[in-house]
Amino acid sequence: MKRKFLAVMMSLAMVGCMAAGCGSSDTASSDESGSTSTSAEVANADKPLVWFNRQPSNSSTGELDMSALSFNDDTYYVGFDANQGAELQGTMVKDYIEANIDTIDRNGDGTIGYVLAIGDIGHNDSIARTRGVRSALDTGVETDGAINSEPVGTNTDGSAKAVKDGSLEVNGKTYVVRELASQEMKNSAGATWDAATAGNAIGTWSSSFGDEIDVVVSNNDGMGMSMFNAWSKDNKVPTFGYDANSDAVAAIAEGYGGTISQHADVQAYLTLRVLRNALDGVDIDTGIGTADEAGNVLTDDVYVYKEEERSYYALNVAVTADNYQDFTDSTVVYAPVSNQLDESSHAKKSVWLDIYNASDNFLSSTYQPLLENYDDLLNLEVDYIGGDGQTESNITNRLGNPGQYDAFAINMVKTDNAASYTSILSQ
Ligand code: BGC
Repeated sequence: MKRKFLAVMMSLAMVGCMAAGCGSSDTASSDESGSTSTSAEVANADKPLVWFNRQPSNSSTGELDMSALSFNDDTYYVGFDANQGAELQGTMVKDYIEANIDTIDRNGDGTIGYVLAIGDIGHNDSIARTRGVRSALDTGVETDGAINSEPVGTNTDGSAKAVKDGSLEVNGKTYVVRELASQEMKNSAGATWDAATAGNAIGTWSSSFGDEIDVVVSNNDGMGMSMFNAWSKDNKVPTFGYDANSDAVAAIAEGYGGTISQHADVQAYLTLRVLRNALDGVDIDTGIGTADEAGNVLTDDVYVYKEEERSYYALNVAVTADNYQDFTDSTVVYAPVSNQLDESSHAKKSVWLDIYNASDNFLSSTYQPLLENYDDLLNLEVDYIGGDGQTESNITNRLGNPGQYDAFAINMVKTDNAASYTSILSQ
């Protein structure tokens, strides 16, 4: 309705302008009615589609859902390299322990104890991070060729089967490393990566075995900051997260141990850029690996594209006390891709985009603000839909009129559920 109204207003303005004989530059650049009629002609099933942040995949096995990833010729996924990031996270924690070995073992029992907040046991990124930490700290146990990523509950006596006691030698002395506890941070309504749940968990853990906790590790900063604020900051226990949200980066000055930037500035760009390219009918690499006419281009140290997975993956960077000053604002566009596209050759198009959980810290404080910066640069008018993080239908109910949009960007609640969206687009 709103768009139709706009289109009518614009044609009226054009008529007025023609009658008054005014310059044509304005009308050429704001000819929106063209895009509206295009969207009416193209079948929804043929419109550009990008999945982001939650890759269509089987939540038990991790296997990619290739039918969703190749729904049509203009379908892609944008995320980040989960394994590379997970390895960085594990190494960051291990390096910190080694560098602070004289003070890290708070009760001096020779065991470095850590607790781990798990985001979503069915999410590939979360699984990778759990594995990365266990692998670096030597607490991982292999099951079917991969490190077990199950939560252990409480393991203060070291008897859990999903992990083992690790061993770490520093300066000629051997320490035991133990995962004292880990838990999926899911609230009673079903929301995963839940920061409040993590804050409660650290309360429970610290009151029963607080003096054994030497390090706190989290699959993301939302949960990590919740634990830091609830307990570890006051108790001077280094806490590590993931995402490099601005508040977590700022907390490094107050003892937060570190975080990983998943280059959300590159991901948010790619999310909208692949749609822009498909809508323009140009090579998909335009403004990505190949500079566009405005000079936007990415170098291969910040992303990889895997054609067979139809997926773009941003690369991660560790953010610690050494370099956090460079990461203080997580919502700033990435300079090499910050040039405005010319509206005369990249007419305004409309995009439907959802954020699976409007209260997810990373998506709401980092990713969406970035998308909002890039949508202007790429001349995309984006409708942002915020989900409740629990039910797909809460979001799909708001995809009632796909014919109104030129392209779609989808962030699912559960990675198995791609068909809930593609079935609507196929109707
Ligand atoms: C982020 C988490 C976030 C999740 C949502 C992950 O990539 O690291 O912070 O909760 O995406 O799907």
